[in-house]
Amino acid sequence: MEEKTVRIGVYPGSFDPLTNGHLDIIKRASKLFDKLIVGVFCNSAKKSIFSMEERVELINKTLAVYPELHNVDVIMFEGLLVDFVKKSGASTLVRGLRAVSDYEYELQMAMLNKHMCEDIDTIFFMTDIKNSFLSSSIIKDVAKNGGNISGLVPEVIIDDVKNKMSE
Ligand code: PNS
Repeated sequence: MEEKTVRIGVYPGSFDPLTNGHLDIIKRASKLFDKLIVGVFCNSAKKSIFSMEERVELINKTLAVYPELHNVDVIMFEGLLVDFVKKSGASTLVRGLRAVSDYEYELQMAMLNKHMCEDIDTIFFMTDIKNSFLSSSIIKDVAKNGGNISGLVPEVIIDDVKNKMSE
């Protein structure tokens, strides 16, 4: 019998914290793969507000609300993304594009990754228009200043984000 190829995709990012924009990409990308790995990048040089463990927990807490996302795993990684992708048995990277301003950085990253590993391709999802203004940074800013973040992050993590930002 012919062996079935398992299609694995990796959606990498800082997710500091997960936004509704990220969640929308996860939902759409998960339909393209047998398994989608959300790769949470552990960057000691970049100061994140949420710890690695907190970021992973917020994503897992959100995924638990959507049974259809049973094929999504959340894994932390350090070092080069291409090494993580290879180790995961994947050859496709997923990224979201909000606006033209994202394009230059994303193109550079996709080309660099392709240069380092010929077998890895990056596919882009155009962000849903309703999330096009969202970023983890603006959400932290709104929450820190007591603004309403409902509709910006998954409902199930609103309080966690608010509590963290008021610490
Ligand atoms: O959510 P972000 O911060 O835009 O995600 C950026 C990320 C984590 C995908 C990128 O910084 C990355 O891939 N880092 C891993 C280190 C690496 O491979 N660098 C070379 C490609 S930029």
